[in-house]
Amino acid sequence: MDYSVVIVAAGQGKRMKAGKNKLLLPLRQEPVIIHTVRVFERDPSCRQIVLVTNQEEIELMKELIKQHQITKVIAFVIGGNERQHSVKNGIEAISGEGIVLIHDGARPFIHPKTIHILVKKASEQGAATVGVPVKDTIKRVTAGQVKHTLNRSELWAVQTPQAFSLPLLKMAHDKAEDVQFLGTDDASLIEWIGHDVVIVEGDYHNIKLTTPEDLVFAEAIMQEREK
Ligand code: CTP
Ligand code: MG
Repeated sequence: MDYSVVIVAAGQGKRMKAGKNKLLLPLRQEPVIIHTVRVFERDPSCRQIVLVTNQEEIELMKELIKQHQITKVIAFVIGGNERQHSVKNGIEAISGEGIVLIHDGARPFIHPKTIHILVKKASEQGAATVGVPVKDTIKRVTAGQVKHTLNRSELWAVQTPQAFSLPLLKMAHDKAEDVQFLGTDDASLIEWIGHDVVIVEGDYHNIKLTTPEDLVFAEAIMQEREK
């Protein structure tokens, strides 16, 4: 089943402490963002890619996309201060009624098989996200004191991509903007308007490159895939 994808790449990468956008860091000689975009470039079900970038990096991103012979990027869009604003700008570049995926530029290891299950679920139920069961015990802590231990069997770490029917996602973003509601991910906006979100079990390789040690994990994942 066909879908469009908005890849958000307009962050600063502050926690990576690389002195520049982490998506431009090389992974096996190619920038992280190219690895991520290429997953969708190669997936025959992906119709079009919208790439959301920083104002200062848009020309560089255009150049990288051209250099690496990526053909599906139909629009380069400038992001906003918060990830949610970047997503909103991205979805405005897409028209129609189909399924749209929102994906972090910082997650280069997403598997096409997971994408296809996710798209199917979203087409049936309107909204779906990839996630994995949490491995750690999670406690609620305030002022240095443990308050409560959460029931781990109910806890999932949510990743991207997240998939939605485009009109539903647009409506949720418009409503959130109206009252300045800020969610931590797109699925939370859908939950906030009272619509169900399906979870699709992904895998632990689909990490988000966030802090410097994630680059060590990324190298290990690349090595494992080469085998
Ligand atoms: N992102 C975005 N626009 C923003 C913030 C984030 O497009 N205003 C994107 C990032 O480029 C990244 C994804 O959203 O691909 C997930 O965000 P995160 O991992 O937090 O990346 P950064 O915001 O860049 O990193 P940090 O929070 O450490 O500064
Ligand atoms: Mg961030």
